[in-house]
Order: sequence, then C-alpha cells, then structure tokens
Amino acid sequence: MERTYLMVKPDGVQRGLIGDIVARFERKGLQLVGAKLMQVSQEQAKRHYAEHEGKDFYDRLLAFITSGPVFAMVWRGDDAVTAARQLIGKTNGLEAAPGTIRGDYAIHTNFNLIHGSDSRESAEREIGIFFDPSELADYEKAVQTWI
Ligand code: PPS
Repeated sequence: MERTYLMVKPDGVQRGLIGDIVARFERKGLQLVGAKLMQVSQEQAKRHYAEHEGKDFYDRLLAFITSGPVFAMVWRGDDAVTAARQLIGKTNGLEAAPGTIRGDYAIHTNFNLIHGSDSRESAEREIGIFFDPSELADYEKAVQTWI
C-alpha cells in the first residue's frame, strides 16, 4: 500500500478546518497512520520545498509555512497519493473544482490550505522530513477490506 504526506497549512489551522479536512480523507477510505500539530522549522521548510528554490514565490512559501502551526499527517491506502490529490484539488483555489478542499474553501494560491505529496517518491522523502518512524502506527484497519 502507498503512503502520502499531507499537511494542513497555517491558514487551515487558524480557520479551524483540521476536523473537516481529516474527515474527508477518512470518508474516502484512506488510513491515518500518523498525525501531529507542529511548528515547521526553517530547515524543514527548505528541505520540503527544495525543488521550488529560485521561483518567484519561494520566499513567500517559506514564510507562510513557518508562520504558524501546521497539522502534519501520514495516510496510507491504494493509490493514496492520487486519491489525496483529487480530494485536495488544483493549486489555485479559484480553479479547484467545488467539492475539493481547495474548491470549497480557498480562493487564492498563497493561502491554499493543504499540501499533498505529488508522487510516491516525494511522499517518502517528505514523511522523512517531518516524522520519525516511531511516530507512525502500523495497524490493520478492519473496514479496509470493504473499500
Ligand atoms: S510548480 O511551479 O508548478 O511546480 O508549482 P506548484 O506545484 O503548483 O506549487 C508548488 C508549491 O508552491 C505553492 N505555490 C505558491 N505559493 C504562493 N504563491 C504562488 N504564486 C504559488 N504558486 C505555487 C503551491 O501551493 C505548492 O505548495 P504545496 O505546499 O505543495 O501546495
């Protein structure tokens, strides 16, 4: 089964949307294996967004993600990366389809509520930046048989 790294960004935490967002991934049938409210350090932010260094929005992105607590999560499931990205919606809230997280709650690109890994490789890299293996639960979810 595939894992993905999801992170409710500081705007989602401040707007009280953690519960709503978590519920959507649970309803979809993904399995939560790790979660914590945390402050992203400058070093973690730089590692996480390394591929965007040099882009015009890079400094803004680092400032935003370190501006307040985030809710960091690891989810597991068949095609978890793609499934989560579909629920999240397009980067720009204005272009994201209604029914997706960004389509329902975001208007701008710089406050777009949530990050989701874009590939299996990115997911494993990002999980390593934010979680120690001891923080992740390994358990069977009975209902998974029915999804
Ligand atoms: S790119 O250039 O296509 O790779 O960018 P994209 O994958 O769409 O976005 C990469 C991350 O940067 C954020 N982003 C922005 N933040 C602020 N302002 C602007 N203009 C902007 N454009 C993109 C975007 O939300 C992505 O962050 P994550 O955390 O992965 O969602």
